[in-house]
Amino acid sequence: MKGSVKVGIVGLGMGRIHLQALKRMEGVEVSALCDVNEELLKKVGEEAGVQKLFTDFEQFISDDMDAAFICTPHFLHYEQVIAALRSGKHVFCEKPLAVTVKEADEMAKVARELGKKLAVGFQRRTNPKDRLVKQLIQELGEISRGLYEMLSLRTQAYYDSGAWRGTWWGEGGGVLINQAVHDLDIYQWWMGMPKLVFGMAETFAHEIETEDLASAIFVYENGAQVLFQASLVNHPGMSRFEVSGEMGCLIYDGNIRLAKIDGALFDFIRTCPEAWGKPPEVTWQDVQAPQEEWGHAALVKDFIDSIVEDREPLVSGEEGIKSVELVNAIIMSTILREPVELPLERASYEALMEDLRAGRRSLPRRASQP
Ligand SMILES: NC(=O)c1ccc[n+]([C@@H]2O[C@H](COP(=O)([O-])OP(=O)(O)OC[C@H]3O[C@@H](n4cnc5c(N)ncnc54)[C@H](O)[C@@H]3O)[C@@H](O)[C@H]2O)c1
Repeated sequence: MKGSVKVGIVGLGMGRIHLQALKRMEGVEVSALCDVNEELLKKVGEEAGVQKLFTDFEQFISDDMDAAFICTPHFLHYEQVIAALRSGKHVFCEKPLAVTVKEADEMAKVARELGKKLAVGFQRRTNPKDRLVKQLIQELGEISRGLYEMLSLRTQAYYDSGAWRGTWWGEGGGVLINQAVHDLDIYQWWMGMPKLVFGMAETFAHEIETEDLASAIFVYENGAQVLFQASLVNHPGMSRFEVSGEMGCLIYDGNIRLAKIDGALFDFIRTCPEAWGKPPEVTWQDVQAPQEEWGHAALVKDFIDSIVEDREPLVSGEEGIKSVELVNAIIMSTILREPVELPLERASYEALMEDLRAGRRSLPRRASQP
C-alpha cells in the first residue's frame, strides 16, 4: 500500500490509548473518531486535532478510511467488526474478538472472504518474555502437566463503572472473557488447544451476573493435564505458569526458570529396574529474554505494518477465535456440570448464552454471599 494509512477509532476508553500510539506513528493519519459519549468525543477530538467526529457508528464507518479500530464494549464487537469489514475497512478489534465462538468464526471468515486484515488486541504476543516461553516449551519434549494462575483484583466500583460490565448481555462473561482472555490467548499460543475442558466458574465476591472466579482442567490428546485458574478476588495479585515434560520443566512467574533433564524421563520411569532408582540429573537455569519495547503500541504498529506490507498481522482473526472458544468451554462445562469436548458445539453455546442473558440459567454463587 502506498501513502499514509487513514484510520478511524470507535470507543474512546481503550481507543484513546491506541490513538496516542497512532498519533506518534509515521505514515498514519487518524481521520475520524466515534463515541456515543459526545462530551468525551469532543474532548478527545480537540486534544488529538481530529476533525471528523461521529456519535453514530453507521455514519462513522461509511466515512473514507483504510482501517477501523473497534474499541467498544464486547457485545458490539461482532456487529461493528462485520460492518467495518463489509464497508471495505481493515479492522483492529480489541479483545475479546467476540462473546461467542460462533460469532468469532464468522468474523474471521468474513475478513478472509473480503481479503481484509483482521487483528485482535492481544498485546502480550509482542512481549519478548512471552515469546521466549513459547520457544522454550519446544525443548521440553512430550508434555505431561501444567499449571496457569491469573490472580488479580477488581472492586465492585469497577463493575459499577459501566452498565455493560459483569453482565451476560454486555460483557458476555466476567474474569474469563475480559481479563483472563489475555492469559488464555497466550496459553493456547504456547501449548495449543486441549481436546477436553472441565470447567468451574462462579460469582464469588461481586454483585454481578458473571464469574469473578474460575478454574478449569485442560486435557490434551496425549493425556497431558493442565490446571487453569483465574480470579478477580485475589490480593496480592499473582501470575504463574508451570509446565513439565519428558525433557524438563519451566516456571514463569515474571522470571523464567528452566530445568533440563539429562535423559528422557518417561523412558527412565518405564525402564528403571529399581523402585527408587537414580533419576536423570537436572540442571536449573534462569533464562533472560531480550529487552525490547512491547505492548499496545507495538501491536498497533504491527497491524499498520501488516496493511502496508500486505501480510498477516501478529494476532489474526483465526487466532482470536481460540481464546473465545476456551472461555465458552469453561462456562458451558460449569453449567452442564460435565466436561466438554473441543471443538465446542457452536449452536449449543449460542443457546446457552441466550439462557444466561434471559436469566433462565445462572452460575453458582458463594454460599454466604448476600
Ligand atoms: N488490550 C487491553 O489490554 C485492553 C484493556 C482495556 C480494555 N480493553 C478492551 O477494550 C474494549 C473497551 O473497553 P474499555 O475498558 O475501554 O470500555 P469503556 O466502557 O471504558 O469504553 C468504551 C467506550 O465505548 C463507547 N461506546 C459504547 N457504545 C458505543 C457505540 N454503540 N458506538 C460508539 N461508541 C460506543 C463508550 O461511550 C465508551 O467511551 C473492550 O473490548 C475491552 O475488553 C482492552
